Amino acid sequence: MDVSRTLAQFPDLKDRAVLITGGGSGIGAALVEGFAQQGAKVAFIDIAEMESSALAERLSAQAAHPVLFQKADLRDIDAVRSAVNVVAERLGPIRVLVNNAGRDDRHEFDEVTPEYWDDNHATNLRHVFFVSQAVVPSMKAAGGGAIINMSSIAFLLNMPELPAYATAKAAIIGLTRSMAGLLGPDNIRVNCILPGMIATERQMKLWLTEEGIARMVDRQCLKQVLTPESLVGPCLFLASGAAAGMTAQSIIVDGGIF
Ligand SMILES: NC(=O)c1ccc[n+]([C@@H]2O[C@H](COP(=O)([O-])OP(=O)(O)OC[C@H]3O[C@@H](n4cnc5c(N)ncnc54)[C@H](O)[C@@H]3O)[C@@H](O)[C@H]2O)c1
Repeated sequence: MDVSRTLAQFPDLKDRAVLITGGGSGIGAALVEGFAQQGAKVAFIDIAEMESSALAERLSAQAAHPVLFQKADLRDIDAVRSAVNVVAERLGPIRVLVNNAGRDDRHEFDEVTPEYWDDNHATNLRHVFFVSQAVVPSMKAAGGGAIINMSSIAFLLNMPELPAYATAKAAIIGLTRSMAGLLGPDNIRVNCILPGMIATERQMKLWLTEEGIARMVDRQCLKQVLTPESLVGPCLFLASGAAAGMTAQSIIVDGGIF
């Protein structure tokens, strides 16, 4: 889908340095493309080298600014800090951060070990704090910024098969509100998006069946399958000056289940 055909342009995003985590595929890749089409200077962190390099190369050929891919495992906080430093050096002060990366791995309640729990939270929660911590000095120096965190409706659905993930996604809302309170005086807005069922490649490969999709669409007000592009407009809006009065909010993009 060519998002530029359906999306508004937000003039203040042009030439703005934007960092997206987990930008190599799925929702993150759609966000990388969406911000690049706004003329923003986009960088993304991902662990998956091949698809991320291919995305950066494809978009760099079309976009106003080259798209910068930094390979890092977000569970490794030193690697995260180095990647953020490189992005700020190359693109200038980071004004928009989208903490998008996550993995909705399933896990049996009885089989979760302390090590599994910690690794799951390192994948889904801890980096949201530490990437933000690394980016905030850049935003403060530039006079403000916008952070958008990716939660999920999974924890609202009482899904039994991913308690660690559900806990992390619920915690992201608390973290969003705390950071909004902390950073508001520095003109840094912090908001959160809760996607519903989004038909990414990973979801289609691992979890989504025809019957499962039909059941969710039946619960939605909008009788269509949401795609990664469905998140681009809400995210651009929250990143832009159009949302200048909004912080500490959680927006659900689920076709109307909740
Ligand atoms: N797809 C959905 O239905 C859905 C629903 C609700 C919430 N979400 C949330 O949206 C976000 C994006 O999900 P998605 O469906 O696009 O996932 P995805 O798996 O398609 O993409 C996630 C990206 O993050 C990267 N990543 C994962 N772990 C990483 C790590 N340790 N270090 C660096 N990069 C890492 C992956 O390589 C991948 O490119 C996640 O936070 C997810 O929890 C997705």
